[in-house]
Amino acid sequence: MVKTKIAVLVSGGGTNLQALLDAQGQGILKSGEIVVVVSDNPGAFALERARSRGVEAVVLDKAAHPAREDFERSLRELLSQRGVELIVLAGFMRILSGDFTAAYDKRIINVHPSLIPAFCGEGFYGLRVHQAVLSYGVKLTGATVHFVNEVPDGGEIILQKAVPVRRGDTPEILQRRVMEQAEWKLLPRACELISQKLQKERDGR
Ligand code: GAR
Repeated sequence: MVKTKIAVLVSGGGTNLQALLDAQGQGILKSGEIVVVVSDNPGAFALERARSRGVEAVVLDKAAHPAREDFERSLRELLSQRGVELIVLAGFMRILSGDFTAAYDKRIINVHPSLIPAFCGEGFYGLRVHQAVLSYGVKLTGATVHFVNEVPDGGEIILQKAVPVRRGDTPEILQRRVMEQAEWKLLPRACELISQKLQKERDGR
C-alpha cells in the first residue's frame, strides 16, 4: 500500500522530529513516510537531523518571507510539489493562517507541551509553557497532540498524556521530562494513527 506522504515543519532543535525519524526506522510509523522537513529557521538543528537520515530538508527563511501570506504561498507550492497529505508541526513556532489550516482540514497535527486547554494559545510555546506551569504551581502537566485549525492550540485533541511536576523542577528539567515521557511517544503514535486513516481513505477501504 502506498504510504501517506508527510511533511514535518520545525523551527529549532528537532527532538520531536528525531522521535518521528526513529519511529519510522523502527516500523512504529509504518503507514506514513516523511518526505520533506521544512524549517522557517536556517539555523535549526532539525535540518541536520533530517539530512543525516537522507530526508530532504528545506529552509523557508522567516527573514526572506516576513509576510505570512508569502511564507504560506511558498509552503503550499512545496507541499503540493511533493504530494504531501499530512503536515506535522514539531516545534514549529509560526502560527498558520485560517486559510492555510482550512486548506488542510484534519491534515495538520501539532504537539504542544501541556495538557490543553491549560497553558496553551498565543504566547505559550517552548520553555514559556513550562515556566507558566511552574509559576502557577500545578502538580500535573503533560503533552497534547491535536489537529490544527484557525484557533491557536484549539483543534480537536487526538492524544494526551499526563506528566508529574516535581519539587525543585526548573523549566528545563520539566521540559525534558515532558518530552521523554509524553511528546516523543505521543507524536509518533498520533502520526501513525492519522497516516493510517488517510491511507485507508485514499485506498477506499
Ligand atoms: C517541544 O516541546 C514542542 O512541544 C514545543 O516546542 C518544543 C520543540 O522542541 N512546541 C510548542 O511549544 C508549540 N506551541 P523540539 O524542536 O526539540 O522538538
